[in-house]
Amino acid sequence: MTASYELEELASKYANEAIRFDRQGLKGTALAKYQRAVEILLKLCSLYPSASQNKVYLRLIEQYEHRINQLQGLETYVEPAKKAKETEFEDLDQLVLREKPNVKWKDIAGLEDAKRAITESIIYPVQRPDLFPLGWPRGILLFGPPGCGKTLLAAAVATEIDANFYCIDSASIMSKWLGESEKNVAYFFKKAKQALEKGRPSIIFMDEIDSLVGIRRDEVGGEVRTRNQFLKEMDNVVDKTKKLHIYVIGATNKPWALDEAFIRRFQKRILVPVPDYYTRLEMIKIFSKGLNISKKLDFDEVASMAEGYSGSDIRDIFQSIQIKIVRELFENNNVNANLKLRTITMDDFKVVFKERKPSVSKDMLRYYEKWHGAFKAL
Ligand SMILES: Nc1ncnc2c1ncn2[C@@H]1O[C@H](COP(=O)(O)OP(=O)(O)OP(=O)(O)O)[C@@H](O)[C@H]1O
Ligand SMILES: [Mg+2]
Repeated sequence: MTASYELEELASKYANEAIRFDRQGLKGTALAKYQRAVEILLKLCSLYPSASQNKVYLRLIEQYEHRINQLQGLETYVEPAKKAKETEFEDLDQLVLREKPNVKWKDIAGLEDAKRAITESIIYPVQRPDLFPLGWPRGILLFGPPGCGKTLLAAAVATEIDANFYCIDSASIMSKWLGESEKNVAYFFKKAKQALEKGRPSIIFMDEIDSLVGIRRDEVGGEVRTRNQFLKEMDNVVDKTKKLHIYVIGATNKPWALDEAFIRRFQKRILVPVPDYYTRLEMIKIFSKGLNISKKLDFDEVASMAEGYSGSDIRDIFQSIQIKIVRELFENNNVNANLKLRTITMDDFKVVFKERKPSVSKDMLRYYEKWHGAFKAL
């Protein structure tokens, strides 16, 4: 486990204890626990200043500090249970109802199977529900190695149809931080149903779904309740007799951490694999846009070199080459706005490919294939 993971676990433990003591009216103990949680969260933010979770941490710090001030009598006293409830959902709204991501189909290389499945099960039914007298699938699970386009696909669907997009990608944090996560699950399904009454379809995107509903060894009551709530909500949505435009897209790179009750509710289960040759070629063209690439560069050769690398590995390779040539420009010259970057050549790729290995191992890929063999549903 990484240090950040351990710190986060610790902070979450203190925060949960603080909330519990607070609700029981044990102010002194609650106060000390809130303070510990704040200290650790601040440490996390300073150790990993560019981590994406920091926004969530900062909001929590603010919330806990506010509560600390109240408990110390520095602010007007607010009745604990009521205040907790309001902020709980306000916070959830901010986490869940993000701005819709602006990813288009054409930004995604390859993945034709996944694109087709999504088009047939979401886009067509939204556009022409009359053509589906038997209903349509409502749950899609995208699984596969990290960095190969699962999140990208979900984002692209949201752009494609004019839908409300509920993104629960801080799932693990939410379930840990806000306590009573089964209520949160019920809440965003309720939001989706309300949107539906106004005629708007909704996509509920559960990123890294294993972290919210995965099988855990040391299961505690709360997590079981969350999973059951989720199953119940999914049953309502997935019920084929109802023609609802609420879709649940789950994404995971640990499909084996899901139990069968859960797997069954996703009628479509699609492997998002490491890119094949043609996908890599397409990706290379996408990532080359806007870069000063030598006209002589052999794209086919780069695509061959990238065998076994994930989409995000390949993007990182392009990024590190670009950084390298920018560095050269600054190191070799005084900063001068008129100077241009040199072109990127095959040698640059050769150097970086030698320095960077694929992030997904061959063993790992075999696990995905095996799971795919056992549970696929296209
Ligand atoms: N098929 C693809 N086409 C274009 N870019 C891709 C593709 N796959 C991955 N990428 C690049 O890699 C990045 C990471 O992809 P994405 O977040 O969709 O991966 P993921 O499968 O959700 O990974 P994780 O399991 O770690 O969440 C993207 O932002 C994009 O730059
Ligand atoms: Mg992802």
